Amino acid sequence: MAKTKRAIKTIGVLTNGGDCPGLNAVIRAVSKTAIMQYGLTVFGIEDGYLGLIQNRIRLLNTADVSNILTQGGTIIGTSNTANPFGFQLTVNGQTRVADVSNMAIRNAKQRDLDALVCIGGDGTQTIASKLAKKGLRIVGVPKTIDNDLYGTDRTFGFDTAVAIATEAIDRVHTTASSHHRVMIVEVMGRNAGWIALHAGTASGADIILIPEIPYNIKAVCKYILKRSQHGKRFSIVVVSEGARPRGGQQTINYCDKSDLNFPIRLGGISQKLAADISKETNLECRSTILGHVQRGGTPTAFDRTLATQFGYEAVRLLMNGYSGRMVALRGSKISSLSLESVAGKQRTVPPGNLLMAAAKAVGTSFGI
Ligand code: F6P
Repeated sequence: MAKTKRAIKTIGVLTNGGDCPGLNAVIRAVSKTAIMQYGLTVFGIEDGYLGLIQNRIRLLNTADVSNILTQGGTIIGTSNTANPFGFQLTVNGQTRVADVSNMAIRNAKQRDLDALVCIGGDGTQTIASKLAKKGLRIVGVPKTIDNDLYGTDRTFGFDTAVAIATEAIDRVHTTASSHHRVMIVEVMGRNAGWIALHAGTASGADIILIPEIPYNIKAVCKYILKRSQHGKRFSIVVVSEGARPRGGQQTINYCDKSDLNFPIRLGGISQKLAADISKETNLECRSTILGHVQRGGTPTAFDRTLATQFGYEAVRLLMNGYSGRMVALRGSKISSLSLESVAGKQRTVPPGNLLMAAAKAVGTSFGI
């Protein structure tokens, strides 16, 4: 573990990447622990790494972080377009990508920030790892509704996204049964099927399609027709935005060129599925894309407590001299691992996943 003895008096906190329920709960935990437990000064860096590059850094006191535990979003803003190691600059009308990491580090030093807490997903933690290698003291906190960060069993935000998706699928259930339709609900998750697997199982979906298992459209239709033959006049399909047919491609919604880390935005597979299922089975199909509703609003109790533990642990690690680490949940324990070991990796649903086995055992199809 990287350890340093230099005293910490001031820390900066930033939230980077897509927003997620529980960000404010982490900001609150980091700030209150730092101020009340260790007597530190805390600065909030606005809009993630963008604020670090542009030197937009403001003092956070306990009043600023009061009453935000239950709030969705982030009081300091976020951005997924700023990478200090590849930042898009426009000079005299010419756009180029430059390494501005030294400028970001200089800004942190000029504001006397002795250490940073970087809250974000895989892109954020990869950047944090590189900044830590250049000498900034950093501890990362894993965030994303996708739950796809390597090294932690859970990211905060995931539980809330699953709860929102489950409630939405429950609601679709009643309309599916009234109209005797095949209803397809598309959830987020990028290249990981965690949200679809958990929300699909929780809501008793008949078919769950995830990116890790390319589906066979014939098998999907056969399963739906078999249900019809058994008198089940509706079916619920939960599909992850990153799912794809066997031998086919993912469905891309658009390409966000300003996002240098992850320009591709997935989305629309549910519409393709509705068309394919309806053609093959002659049944009436409808598709619903849940989209950003999964990232909004108040976090669940689980996410609030996880966020509070993560924030506390991040400050505790820094105060004990550690840097270049990411806090993590392993089993029921809060621990940490090196940012380097997390950088550039993804945690997808593995073949032997126990929840998937249980879902299969109760009759759920995974489209194969
Ligand atoms: O990573 C979180 C996430 O919500 C993904 O599930 C989704 O693919 C992506 O972000 C959407 O990104 P944006 O908010 O930039 O459209």
